[in-house]
Amino acid sequence: MKQNIDWANLGFGYIKTPYRFVANFKNGEWEKGSLIEDDTVKISECAGVLQYAQTCFEGLKAYTTEDNRIVCFRPNLNAQRMADSCKRLEMPVFPEEEFINAVVDTIKANADFVPPYGFGATLYIRPYMFGSNPVIGVKPAEEYQFRIFTTPVGPYFKGGIKPLTIRVPDFDRAAPHGTGHIKAGLNYAMSLHAIVDAHNKGYDENMYLDPATRTKVEETGGANFIFITKDNVVVTPKSSSILPSVTRRSLLYVAKHYLGLETQEREVLFEEVKEFKECALCGTAAVLSPVGKIVNHDIQILLPSGMERMGEVTKQLYDTLLGIQLGKINAPEGWLKEII
Ligand code: PLP
Ligand code: COI
Repeated sequence: MKQNIDWANLGFGYIKTPYRFVANFKNGEWEKGSLIEDDTVKISECAGVLQYAQTCFEGLKAYTTEDNRIVCFRPNLNAQRMADSCKRLEMPVFPEEEFINAVVDTIKANADFVPPYGFGATLYIRPYMFGSNPVIGVKPAEEYQFRIFTTPVGPYFKGGIKPLTIRVPDFDRAAPHGTGHIKAGLNYAMSLHAIVDAHNKGYDENMYLDPATRTKVEETGGANFIFITKDNVVVTPKSSSILPSVTRRSLLYVAKHYLGLETQEREVLFEEVKEFKECALCGTAAVLSPVGKIVNHDIQILLPSGMERMGEVTKQLYDTLLGIQLGKINAPEGWLKEII
């Protein structure tokens, strides 16, 4: 029985669902793992994650389609990215096939919490892993826990798809050759001051520039950028220190193969941002959130698409991607993993 939740008014928050997947890594191997009901974690006070932040995570969504199936979007790409994160953080990879099976099992077990079709809500799935045994010298843990929980969510930004105002902060997100390209918890810990400061000053998000030269656009704390040129070319920043967004990779495919638009993945100078006609943030949580205004100290850029609605091309990209995710438009081979 579907839960009695006000699906239409969900924000992006945590609502406890009944089941979570847990697997432990001990003595050099992963145990099989299972679904449990206990939503708490008991670990040593000296656990690697608590002392040296040895943790990484993923985020993906499950959707109820128009014809009432439950599907999940491209979990294989999250499995791959989590493997990359683990390798960079000296953590054991949870096998990709098993990652996908565990995601499927966890969604199935919590199916009553997958928002019904038509409310603009989804089930957010959060796989994560952390070092669990005592670590006091700086070194990787020897024991780990991999978990997946789910929570029904609505829009990440309050106000749904109203254009955002963002600013270029004086803080950097990821060092060159650092961990910007993986989903390490530490990347988010160090972004907290910048986002609180941005909110205090009336901005919705931060536009981080490359720390080495501070001339190139990187990403926000939780989403990649796409820009639309006056000739309708879809441009997205290329950098080795941004997270390879599943949404961004999917949108570029949609732009090219569904909408017939030219796409470019290349370095984007902040200097050229004023030439674009549309800008948006893309990510699992952000979906495709339009940006109306960008402030870099005394420079103010007002995107021609304005502060009232999504730009025209952004809207086409949004409708097509969401149409694919909701089963209204044919998906490319392998994009939708059937759950039920
Ligand atoms: N960039 C950062 C820093 C993120 O945290 C996220 C969210 O996962 C993204 C980009 C978007 O990635 P994806 O589309 O895979 O969710
Ligand atoms: C996501 O989009 O899945 C994210 O992880 C972004 C944010 C909630 C951290």
